[in-house]
Amino acid sequence: MVLPPGMVVFWFEFRSSQAVVQEIFRTLLLRPQARALRLGDRLLWLACCTSRGRAPAAVCPAEQRKANEAPPQRREDLFLQSKFTFGQGQDHRLPYDPEAPVAAQVEQSFASSLEHLGTGVIDSYLLHGPSQRAGLAPADWEAWRAMEAIHQSGRARLLGVSNFTLEQLRLLCEKARVRPHFVQNRCHAALGWDRRVREFCAANGLVYQGFSLLTANREALARPELARVARRHGRTVAQVVFRFALEVGMVVLTGTTDAGHMREDLDVFDFRLDPGEAERIEALAG
Ligand SMILES: NC(=O)c1ccc[n+]([C@@H]2O[C@H](COP(=O)([O-])OP(=O)(O)OC[C@H]3O[C@@H](n4cnc5c(N)ncnc54)[C@H](OP(=O)(O)O)[C@@H]3O)[C@@H](O)[C@H]2O)c1
Repeated sequence: MVLPPGMVVFWFEFRSSQAVVQEIFRTLLLRPQARALRLGDRLLWLACCTSRGRAPAAVCPAEQRKANEAPPQRREDLFLQSKFTFGQGQDHRLPYDPEAPVAAQVEQSFASSLEHLGTGVIDSYLLHGPSQRAGLAPADWEAWRAMEAIHQSGRARLLGVSNFTLEQLRLLCEKARVRPHFVQNRCHAALGWDRRVREFCAANGLVYQGFSLLTANREALARPELARVARRHGRTVAQVVFRFALEVGMVVLTGTTDAGHMREDLDVFDFRLDPGEAERIEALAG
């Protein structure tokens, strides 16, 4: 399954309890849109996990069988994404030997993701962030080369990066043998919702995944302009932000753990922002 722009994506992490993950699947599978997922249509459910995440995909089939509401989920209906994270971004649950060379760490981390997800192939594998704030260090290149090898072996269909600046993205794209397909960044309204990185992605055929659209933008979300747009469409401010993100071409990640919010976050495909509204939101704080 590919992951084109124009999708709302739910994201599981280790911190999500099994009960929450089960609720997520139940909520989705009982919705009409869940059919679209199984048909591979544009309303998609994405199961994500970090390198240290547990396997939502492994929870899902048993839960579905119990609910007996929907046919078992097929692997090809799920988009699985995981990441390699350098030591400084990890806690004690390291999925690799920190004394090993970076390339071996990537291999070990990737193997751990495959095991947790119960799969032999991951759809997208991301470098969680560069090892330093500016530029790319030898460790970043070693990690990327190891990821390229994993891609070339057929175990990761697509590669991507996260928390990259425009400069770092340019450097990587210039010298990568396998260019990143995804850029997953925190989306700050104050930076025009990461406009420069998004523009680079659009110009170079990369797909931008936006995260923390709500949590990174509390001030912008409190602006009267957003409340007015939300009122005009009979939606919540969160829905307007997600709709805006879809309309400017992002894959939208939401970190909700609440079934009501999940429904709300998915209900953004049946309205459009009026001409000018998206532009005003884009210029809100940038
Ligand atoms: N690559 C990275 O370095 C990185 C870093 C951070 C996050 N991420 C990933 O991106 C995902 C999204 O990031 P995030 O969690 O910061 O995103 P977010 O969606 O901006 O924030 C989630 C928060 O917004 C609330 N929320 C969601 N939908 C809502 C709604 N309709 N109305 C009101 N509140 C709503 C959630 O509360 P409820 O749970 O109560 O709904 C939660 O507190 C995360 O799950 C994470 O895995 C990646």
